[in-house]
Amino acid sequence: MTDVGIDAVEFRTGKLKLDLAETFAEEKDDDPAKYTKGLGLHASSFPDAYEDIVTMAANAAKRLMDRRDLQPQDIGRIDVATESAFDHSKPVSTYVAGCLEQVYDTNFHHANKGERKFACISGTQSVDDAVNWIAAGKNRDRAALVIATDTALYERGDSGEATQGAGAVAMLIDEDPDVVTIEPEQGFGSADETDFLKPNQQFPSVDGKRSMQVYLMRMREALEDLEMQRDTHPDDFALVPFHTPFPGMVRKAAALGYRHVARNTDVEEELAEEIGRQPRPEAFDDEETYRDALKEYTDKLTETDTYQEWYGRAIEPTLEISAQVGNWYTGSVHVARLAGLKHARENGLDFDNRELLVCSYGSGAQAEIHTETVQPGWEEEIAQLSVDNQLVERYDISWDQYEQIHDVHNHDETTDVDAFTTPEDEFVFDGWGRMGERKYTYVE
Ligand code: CAA
Repeated sequence: MTDVGIDAVEFRTGKLKLDLAETFAEEKDDDPAKYTKGLGLHASSFPDAYEDIVTMAANAAKRLMDRRDLQPQDIGRIDVATESAFDHSKPVSTYVAGCLEQVYDTNFHHANKGERKFACISGTQSVDDAVNWIAAGKNRDRAALVIATDTALYERGDSGEATQGAGAVAMLIDEDPDVVTIEPEQGFGSADETDFLKPNQQFPSVDGKRSMQVYLMRMREALEDLEMQRDTHPDDFALVPFHTPFPGMVRKAAALGYRHVARNTDVEEELAEEIGRQPRPEAFDDEETYRDALKEYTDKLTETDTYQEWYGRAIEPTLEISAQVGNWYTGSVHVARLAGLKHARENGLDFDNRELLVCSYGSGAQAEIHTETVQPGWEEEIAQLSVDNQLVERYDISWDQYEQIHDVHNHDETTDVDAFTTPEDEFVFDGWGRMGERKYTYVE
């Protein structure tokens, strides 16, 4: 099969920043360490008054197309993954294409456009759709543009409020990609769950604690499914990017994943002297005692040097951006991959042909785990990104400004505030059309 995968990637954060330790914790009268250490989050990104899921997606896509010298006719497919759509019929990809057509001489009239929904996992599902489209030979030498874009807002006062975020990740999917190839093996863990949902409402109904358990259960199932197709070993993977609603969630998932992957390997044997072997269900009379033993083993495992070395190498780098921007829902696992590669480049690590284990998740609920192989062009591509500049340039909002901007993006409110930043060379929201559609313009 032809190698297909991510050829180029772009990152676009909302231009406002809410500091969790300084501003959020202070207002809630909480210990800042609950956010910075417990959840592992330092700040959230928010869209300014003229930004939304379309502007963030279109701005990411434009930068990617300009860098790669692409024209609309080079793109045969635009898939947008989001769980913040504002229209039940017209897909966000049509708005994004409409924006881009304002600045290019040609159009996307022969591109297949769509919108994918399955909570946060739909970004990965869209990548998969695009890979399959190319692998099936239907692309006529054109690439696919996949954009994961979200404004992850919770109801004011909801337990998820500290984990909010907003941004877009655009990915060019093509043959012989520069960044990673997507390998064919996939493991799924999927079940009908009501942990996080938005039944005809903008803000989610969330059972926060339950959602964490569901994340772990589905992730374990996906790993078991993957292991039916291939062997795994902790040393196989240079990075393990997870869907990251907040880094503390990944801390739990990583421990589960490592324990699972290390079972029946030399790693388990080497650790046995220090912490014993992993509990096996057949050695216990009931499920509860087995679960307790497993938890006790996992707690000891995460204290070992072996685990901590692995965590510092394969997991921690993937959390560096997420800790500064919060949850981007569909984009989150793609931010994690990008963060890990950025860290590797900045630290001179040789990742050519190394494998990644990519662990995606969407509430409702489904986990999907697949492997990717890093391609020799990865460093040059990652060097083009402007992540640090974008993060540093965000406008730091006060609590009052946060309240205003939350209202601006609340579909039930009609608050109108002046923007906190000045748009430059970017698409902006420009009011409403005669059929209630959102309108956009490009500001030089
Ligand atoms: N110092 C250090 N740590 C502290 C602390 C302090 N002073 N105070 C609290 N902590 C720790 C807690 O011990 C806890 O860590 P552990 O879970 O490891 O024990 C952590 O900080 C968070 O504290 P709480 O559990 O008390 O926090 P909370 O109840 O206010 O909210 C939450 C946590 C339920 C996850 C909430 O943020 C939430 O509802 N989030 C939205 C749902 C979500 O993100 N779920 C994740 C899985 S679902 C998913 O992934 C899909 C998606 O994108 C939404």
